Amino acid sequence: MNPNKAGGIIAQTRDNGIEFPLKSFSKGSTMRIFASLALAALALFSFSASSQGPLAPKVQLAAPQVPQVPPMGWNSWNYYAGKVDDKAIRAAADQLVSTGMKDAGYTYVNIDDTWEGERDANGVLHTNAKFPDMKALADYVHSKGLKIGIYSSPGPKTCGGYAGSLGHEEQDAKMYAAWGIDYLKYDLCSFIGDVMEKEAPNDRPAQMRLMIDAFAKMDKALKATGRPIVYSLCQYGWDSVWEWGPSVGANLWRTTGDITPDWDRMYVILSQQEGLEKYAGPGHWNDPDMLEVGNGKLGYGENRTHFSMWAMLAAPLLAGNDLPNMKPEIKAILTNRDVIAIDQDPLGKQGARIYSEGEVDVWARHLSGGALAIAVVNAGSDRYSTHPFHLNLRKLGLAGTQTGKDLWTGKTMELKDNMPLELTSHDVLLVRLDAPRLLAAAPSKTQPEVSR
Ligand code: GAL
Repeated sequence: MNPNKAGGIIAQTRDNGIEFPLKSFSKGSTMRIFASLALAALALFSFSASSQGPLAPKVQLAAPQVPQVPPMGWNSWNYYAGKVDDKAIRAAADQLVSTGMKDAGYTYVNIDDTWEGERDANGVLHTNAKFPDMKALADYVHSKGLKIGIYSSPGPKTCGGYAGSLGHEEQDAKMYAAWGIDYLKYDLCSFIGDVMEKEAPNDRPAQMRLMIDAFAKMDKALKATGRPIVYSLCQYGWDSVWEWGPSVGANLWRTTGDITPDWDRMYVILSQQEGLEKYAGPGHWNDPDMLEVGNGKLGYGENRTHFSMWAMLAAPLLAGNDLPNMKPEIKAILTNRDVIAIDQDPLGKQGARIYSEGEVDVWARHLSGGALAIAVVNAGSDRYSTHPFHLNLRKLGLAGTQTGKDLWTGKTMELKDNMPLELTSHDVLLVRLDAPRLLAAAPSKTQPEVSR
């Protein structure tokens, strides 16, 4: 479901912090500490392990631990949609191993919608004919050293019209655990029309409370299984999910409607992430939707911009392409270890758009050990050397010439203040500075605050 198309609620506009480039990082940390304390108190110490920022209070964690870095893997929807079956999932698992993607960090093989069959008289949900034996499939995926994910809805039906979990949350969660499921994507879908609008007609706040309760219910059911299961909320960013996602145990939450494999949609989604950086942290991530790298109309530069920026956003890296027929250049993008290291950086701070000039955007992301990643995106189509973009290092809080690594050429490069940059249309410059030289004392209120 795409609320943009359906005319529903979409992720709201956020402030952009152009004048105070690195301020939001330190402010965000402080806010997260207070938010975490308040939430932990509210939840009477049932706050999930996955919702803890690095500085969050140490509480006795009842919940099973899931990885604290953004999940990496592959999901069936973007390529197969309703055509996914047992064979495709096994092939995806095989390919993750044989292409080296597993070694690069891709771990989860996620079955999206259309695996579900009918419920029997005892309420047990059976798989449909495309998935003859889910336990055997999970065992196969596990035998490759990978993990397996599944999909459902808090409503009676999924977005594809298959059986959802409404009224069967505990039963379904237990079944997932018995199969060996490691990840659940829980997609709002029919819960909107069949529950929210029916039970609270014309009362948006009451509808949102019903929605939050439904996500909390499945969280409780998953935790009760004792199995570590990554919990992925899919409700398109409604009601500022980033503000309450951690309180219902979410490890990630979609921030927008669906992605499609074209530049315009990818860029709109990227732009909508601005201002959300303070809500992400270890174990709880904004999810700008799964990767379209290698799909549809995206060209080479567009694919690497998409991948670079999802890494800057500390987004889940869930490839969604045709793995058995992946072209070498797509594999090279998806397995670029330097870019993956940006995404998986243990500090867990999401990058922010620092400034834009015309059609060029400059983003920065703080990394562990005081390192900094800088991404310059050319979203335009006709900027030439006669009038190049000039990089402003002061706006990034940086003092003078910097030495870093261009993560797409692998070469050392120098960034100089006001240097002209000519980027191909819809392409990116992604640079890692391991030892950035920061402005010591910037003039008056433009002084950047840097958390180190
Ligand atoms: C959408 C969701 C997609 C996919 C699809 C399956 O609501 O955003 O990512 O899961 O449902 O029907």
